[in-house]
Amino acid sequence: VTEEPVLLAQLGELREQLQRSHEMIRALIAGEVDAVAETSEGEPALLRQAQAALRESETRLRAVFDGALDAMLIIDDDGRYIDANPAALELFGVTREQLLGKSAVDFGEPADYDAAWAAFLAAGQAEGEFHLVRPDGQRRTLEFRAKARISPGRHLSSLHDVTDKRRLEEELRQSHRLESLGRLAGGIAHDFNNMLLAITGFATFVHNELPEGDPKREDQAEVLRAAARAADLVRQLLAFGRKQMLTPKAVTAGQVVADVTGMTRRLIREDIELVVRHGADAALVCVDAPQIEQVLVNLVVNARDAMPDGGSITLDTATATIVSRVSSPEAEGLSPGNYCVISVTDTGVGMDEDTRSRVFEPFFSTKERGESTGLGLATAYGIVKQSGGHIEVESALGRGSTFRIYLPVCEVGVQTVRPMSPAPAELRGCETILVVEDEPMVRRLAVEVLRRHGYRVLEARDPGDALLVVEQEADRIDLLLTDVVMPRMSGPQLAQRITVSQADMRVVFMSGYVDDQLTDDRSELLVAKPFTPQDLLLAIRRALDG
Ligand SMILES: Nc1ncnc2c1ncn2[C@@H]1O[C@H](COP(=O)(O)OP(=O)(O)O)[C@@H](O)[C@H]1O
Ligand SMILES: [Mg+2]
Repeated sequence: VTEEPVLLAQLGELREQLQRSHEMIRALIAGEVDAVAETSEGEPALLRQAQAALRESETRLRAVFDGALDAMLIIDDDGRYIDANPAALELFGVTREQLLGKSAVDFGEPADYDAAWAAFLAAGQAEGEFHLVRPDGQRRTLEFRAKARISPGRHLSSLHDVTDKRRLEEELRQSHRLESLGRLAGGIAHDFNNMLLAITGFATFVHNELPEGDPKREDQAEVLRAAARAADLVRQLLAFGRKQMLTPKAVTAGQVVADVTGMTRRLIREDIELVVRHGADAALVCVDAPQIEQVLVNLVVNARDAMPDGGSITLDTATATIVSRVSSPEAEGLSPGNYCVISVTDTGVGMDEDTRSRVFEPFFSTKERGESTGLGLATAYGIVKQSGGHIEVESALGRGSTFRIYLPVCEVGVQTVRPMSPAPAELRGCETILVVEDEPMVRRLAVEVLRRHGYRVLEARDPGDALLVVEQEADRIDLLLTDVVMPRMSGPQLAQRITVSQADMRVVFMSGYVDDQLTDDRSELLVAKPFTPQDLLLAIRRALDG
């Protein structure tokens, strides 16, 4: 109570001070700063300081806004852009003048934008994706976060470009999908392979035993033709599933392309021009050349089909170095290293986005059923991936297509192919052969084929069984014909065990599976499933005589 007068006096003083500064601020706002500075004696210095501080903080704010890496937009209540930083202008591909006064609708946002804008104002903030169509036609995917009312009637939105990120994610999804489709197709094809082997083999026996002129002979030939078509389909599925037998060897890109052009001139029509460029013909790649040539033929045939009114197909070679996945997003899935790029470009109808994203799927086709299988690009994909490479497509509707195949460049001094010994004249023999195969159909076929051609045949249904047979067998075994993948012990392991006691025994492997890695340093031969009786007999004779 006693201090009351003192307090009152202080309060009065404060009120006066407040009053003075209030007036000063009013004067500032009204732009009368200089006038006030001159009239209010004793205080101009303070005022000038305040003024400078204000300018400095404005400059600082502007610098932050202009220097920000993310694009920022200031938007008014109607959703119109009233300020933008340089990052935003670059992102939108416009000048400041072109942007101000526009709204998201002008850059491709859908018509229901009004509702979204109202919801944003009500919620006070929003985030999401924005699909921008730039004046130059480029499409970009932007991620944005917006905050309403950073000052009265002013809203801030910050955006950044996620186009490449989204594309990579999509490609990854795509390659995972192809991967699992491939596993499925490869698995089915592997089982069908064995069945077809038996069908073809036994049907051949029947066919050959029917006398000439027997009407059943033609029926049997029909069975064989159908089986051959089925085997062809199975081979393509194996290729897509990366389960094909590939025999890589060093070859130049130029050689591969030259072989293909020889073949394709016959495949394309006269109204289509075939142009061959020689960007990097000397690049050495380590591939199964006939398989890569098949890939290129598939691409050329597709290019031809895409140009019903004629045009040109360009084959080109180039080299590329993948430093890291981040710096080379165009070749997703490739490990860093040197690559040879073979490209096939056409001036045809091109593809829309939906087609482009599905072309490598097996059985995907936009062509009439009957004239297409939809397996051309699926097999191309499988073969290229299995070769350690990558295939990609660039295309737009009405603007043609370019397919690029990346193949790893050869390390120096790899693989040379052993020359094949000449085909033996006689397929028969009388040597002793041990057949080891866990698939009964395939085993029975192999045993049958060999017996019918004079061989003495022992059989075993697995490696354990085989070792027992070897133990009980008094005579020497001339040749071991074995499957590669079997339960408990692999074919190569079995061969090694037996050769301990039978050093000069020859070995032939039967396999339809690439995962069956074989060491290359022994004189072993391989028959790829599905094989015909002829294939098998040839391989056996080669091994015995070689
Ligand atoms: N060069 C190309 N230009 C336009 N579309 C293409 C091209 N290559 C492939 N396509 C599209 O990809 C699909 C799949 O091709 P593919 O796997 O070879 O099967 P198919 O040729 O039997 O239809 C085609 O049906 C076509 O729609
Ligand atoms: Mg095709």
